[in-house]
Amino acid sequence: MGSLKGKVATPRGIEGEKEWQMELFPECKAPDSKGMFITFEGGEGTGKSTQLKLLSDYLHSQQINNLATKEPGGTEIGLELRQLLVTGDKDKFDAVAEALLYYADRRVHLTTKVWPALNNGVWVLSDRFADSTVAYQYYGYDKRVDKRLLDELYQIAVGDFKPDLTIVLDMDPKTGLERSFKKALGMATKETRHESRELAFHENLRRGYLEMARQEPERFVVLDADKSIERLHIDIVQVVKERFKL
Ligand code: TMP
Repeated sequence: MGSLKGKVATPRGIEGEKEWQMELFPECKAPDSKGMFITFEGGEGTGKSTQLKLLSDYLHSQQINNLATKEPGGTEIGLELRQLLVTGDKDKFDAVAEALLYYADRRVHLTTKVWPALNNGVWVLSDRFADSTVAYQYYGYDKRVDKRLLDELYQIAVGDFKPDLTIVLDMDPKTGLERSFKKALGMATKETRHESRELAFHENLRRGYLEMARQEPERFVVLDADKSIERLHIDIVQVVKERFKL
């Protein structure tokens, strides 16, 4: 590590030497990888982590080896970044600084955990991925950030790689925020930096998810999250079975 001349990790493998890049990580997702990458997205309190865990258990019961992870905070370095990002004053970063930090977390997550797992045929279920950055840092902030900046960050950090399936859990943000604040009551460190933004921010990001889903229907599925945990789990299993012909 440390050389200014080195190999560049991409989702397809290692590219040739690039003078301005640090020497990087050897394991990346191969194009013929057998592992599937499923992401869960949605606003606050929509039940993503509960549903992700249930899906992970279901896949294990079907002998599908899988890894449950999250952004931000899916790695040790990511946990440190998560502390910075989800606690404290809501205005301590602007949207660009936020996006850069989320992308730093994402790059470490992909190169050290997600791509190596997919390369080994393990399915990866991630609680949030890059669509969260578009939803929160672009739509949430009422499109005040240039979207091209986020697209470029995606290219630099992620390349052509993308989820095989993205499940958006959709619900009225008022209900979601209530749930989320209730959950935070039991936390030693309050992870409510984004929750403390005004309702309009959360309504914008919800609309953003729905717009993204309309633009890429082959990747996204939007599910009504305002139902029982069991009912929603059945819907998710149905989607996954259909999508991956299980
Ligand atoms: P979580 O509460 O779903 O664990 O996510 C942490 C917070 O970080 C949540 O408020 C959404 C926010 N977030 C962004 O604003 N941009 C991102 O790119 C990601 C991954 C999360």
